[in-house]
Amino acid sequence: MAPGFWRGKRLVITAGPTREALDPVRFLSNESSGRMGWALARAARRRGARVTLVHGPTGRPAPRGVRAVPVTSAREMLAATLRAARGADAVVGAAAVADWRPAVLQKSKIKKSGPPPTLRLVANPDILKTLSKNRRGVRPRLAGFALETDRLLDNARKKMTEKKLDLIVANGPEALGADRTDAWILSATGWALRHRGTKDALAGRLLDALGNRP
Ligand code: CTP
Repeated sequence: MAPGFWRGKRLVITAGPTREALDPVRFLSNESSGRMGWALARAARRRGARVTLVHGPTGRPAPRGVRAVPVTSAREMLAATLRAARGADAVVGAAAVADWRPAVLQKSKIKKSGPPPTLRLVANPDILKTLSKNRRGVRPRLAGFALETDRLLDNARKKMTEKKLDLIVANGPEALGADRTDAWILSATGWALRHRGTKDALAGRLLDALGNRP
């Protein structure tokens, strides 16, 4: 790694799940625990970075020395991330952003009298894709994660290209909620590195690789 690359650098991390409300008491979400994002925030702090952690509901206290921006939905996460990313040196998307939201947010609780409702969903914005489209001036380094059940490396490489990322971490659904992970770090320049171990160690390796980008 470039010695001390992260010292004083501004890093934005997205983490945790998002929640997409259906009515005032119900939502769609996923199993993300925020562990990976928290591990990245701690590792970046240890390297001297100024860290903003834009995170969905995880119930975790913010890591020490990190600016935490709690959000709920994907659209809130997008707005907060775009704001935080202005002038940032790097953005790592570790959040499990809900891909869809209910087309209609009911103002009142949906009552169970009557037929079961049919859910109509609409697509949420893609946060990393929006960031890579909006890159103007100094280009922040961008890294993301690919959660895949099939064709892990092929699908991850495709995502890295589509979202114009410098690096992507490819892992399977076993990673959700776990402390350890079996993952690949893939780079847009073509190298690949397998990591079997803790998410803390993976966070360090990812930051070292991102700091090292030629
Ligand atoms: N991501 C994002 N905004 C979204 C969806 C995903 O920024 N609306 C980011 C994630 O934080 C992650 C990467 O994109 O870094 C890939 O997320 P993943 O859930 O693996 O893939 P999707 O892009 O959602 O595609 P699919 O669900 O079809 O696999």
